[in-house]
Amino acid sequence: MQAITRRLGHHSLRPTPSLSSIYPLSDHYYGGDHPRYGSTLPSHKGTGHLVRKGTGGRSSVSGIIATVFGATGFLGRYLVQQLAKMGSQVLVPFRGSEDNPRHLKLMGDLGQIVPMKYDPRDENSIKAVMAKANVVINLIGREYETRNYSFEEVNHFMAEQLAVIAKEHGGITRFIQLSCLGSSLSSPSRFLRAKAAGEEAVLKELPEATVMKPAVMIGTEDRILNPWARFAKKYSFLPLIGDGSIKIQPVYVNDVASAIIAALKDDGTSMGKIYELGGPDIYTVHELAELMYDMIREWPRYVNVPLPIAKAIAMPRDVLLKKVPFPLPNPEIFNLDQILAFANDTVVSENALSFTDLGVSPHKLKGYPVEFLIQYRKGGPQFGSTVSEKVNPDSYP
Ligand SMILES: NC(=O)c1ccc[n+]([C@@H]2O[C@H](COP(=O)([O-])OP(=O)(O)OC[C@H]3O[C@@H](n4cnc5c(N)ncnc54)[C@H](OP(=O)(O)O)[C@@H]3O)[C@@H](O)[C@H]2O)c1
Repeated sequence: MQAITRRLGHHSLRPTPSLSSIYPLSDHYYGGDHPRYGSTLPSHKGTGHLVRKGTGGRSSVSGIIATVFGATGFLGRYLVQQLAKMGSQVLVPFRGSEDNPRHLKLMGDLGQIVPMKYDPRDENSIKAVMAKANVVINLIGREYETRNYSFEEVNHFMAEQLAVIAKEHGGITRFIQLSCLGSSLSSPSRFLRAKAAGEEAVLKELPEATVMKPAVMIGTEDRILNPWARFAKKYSFLPLIGDGSIKIQPVYVNDVASAIIAALKDDGTSMGKIYELGGPDIYTVHELAELMYDMIREWPRYVNVPLPIAKAIAMPRDVLLKKVPFPLPNPEIFNLDQILAFANDTVVSENALSFTDLGVSPHKLKGYPVEFLIQYRKGGPQFGSTVSEKVNPDSYP
C-alpha cells in the first residue's frame, strides 16, 4: 500500500490501520463526516447478503450499495441510471465541482444517488466513499495525459489503490474494473499498457474481481463520432489516419452498462473473469466514418494522413506537455497515444468471454445508438445534402 501511495503522491500517509479502525469516516473536508456530503445510508457490515425488496423498479431495494468511481464520465451516466433503476443505492465520488454529479441525482429516488466529494490522491477520502458500499465499480480512466496526471497514475495506480482499499474493507462483495479492449503490457500505447497493468494489479489484489474490456464506446457523449462530426463540419473533410482500413468493433455505451449490471446480478460466475465487450459488427475506421457522414448528411470527404505524418502532427503536445508552464488543450483527433493504440486492428479475441456469456445482446450501431448525430445536420435534423439519398454535391450548379 505504501508503494502505491508513494506513486500516487498522497498528501497524507498514515500507516494502514487495523480493519476495525479503518471505517470511521474521513476526519476532514471530504467524505461522509462532512455535513454537506454526509450520507444517511445504513452501514453495511460483513460479506453481505444482499437484501432485496420490491418488484425491481427504482423504488425497490436491490441490496446493492455501489460506489462508482468515475461515475461523472461517459459510461458512468448510463451505469448509474441502470443501477438506480433496479433500486440500488449509488455513491458517486466526485472531485470537481458539485455540478459534475448533478445530472446523476435525478436518476434515482430522493437520497438514492449520493454524491460525495473526494480526492483521488487522499487515501482517507477514498475509504470514506467506500465505507458503506458492498460493491465497487472503477470507471476511472483517461486516454490522454495532463500536467497533473500521468497515464500510469490514472489507469494503473488508482485502480490498484482502489483494489487494495476494497480488500481491506472486508465487506465488498463485488469489484468491477473497467479496462479497454486491446490493453496489453506489450502495446505501443502507454494508455493500453497502463490499462493492462491496472487489470493485473486489481486481479492480484482481488482475484475475484471482474474485468470488463470494452471496445471504443459509442453514444451521445462519445469521444469518437462527436469529434469527427465537429471536425467534418468545421473543415469540410475528415482526416483518416493511415487509409482508414484498421478494424475496430465499436460498442453502444448502454450495452456496456448492461453487461456490468448483468455481472453484478449473476450468481458469481463472472467473478475472477475478464470480458471483452465489442459490438455485433466489425467496422473499418473508414466504414465508421461513412456511418457518421450518413447521419450528419454531409458529403464524405477524407484526407488520408499517413501514420508518420499523423504522429508528427500529434507530437508537439506530448513533447511540450510538461515543459510549458500552462495547460495545453486536450487532444481530440490527433492524440499521439491513441494513434499508436489504433495502429493495429482491435477486435474481440476469438475465445474471449463476451456479451453472450453475460446474457446481453449488444445493439447494432446503425439506428438509435448513432441517432444523436442528427444534431450536427446543417439546417436541422431533417435537412442537408445526403449520402443516403445519393445526391452528389458536385452535380450542383
Ligand atoms: N470511452 C471509450 O470509448 C472507452 C473505451 C474503452 C474503455 N474505456 C474505459 O472505460 C472507463 C469509462 O470510460 P468513460 O468514457 O466513461 O471515461 P470518461 O468519460 O473519460 O470518464 C472517466 C472518469 O474518470 C475520472 N477521472 C479521470 N481522470 C481522473 C483523475 N486523475 N482522478 C480521478 N478521476 C479521474 C473522471 O472524473 P472527472 O469527471 O472528474 O474528470 C470521470 O469520472 C474508463 O476506464 C475508460 O478508460 C472507455
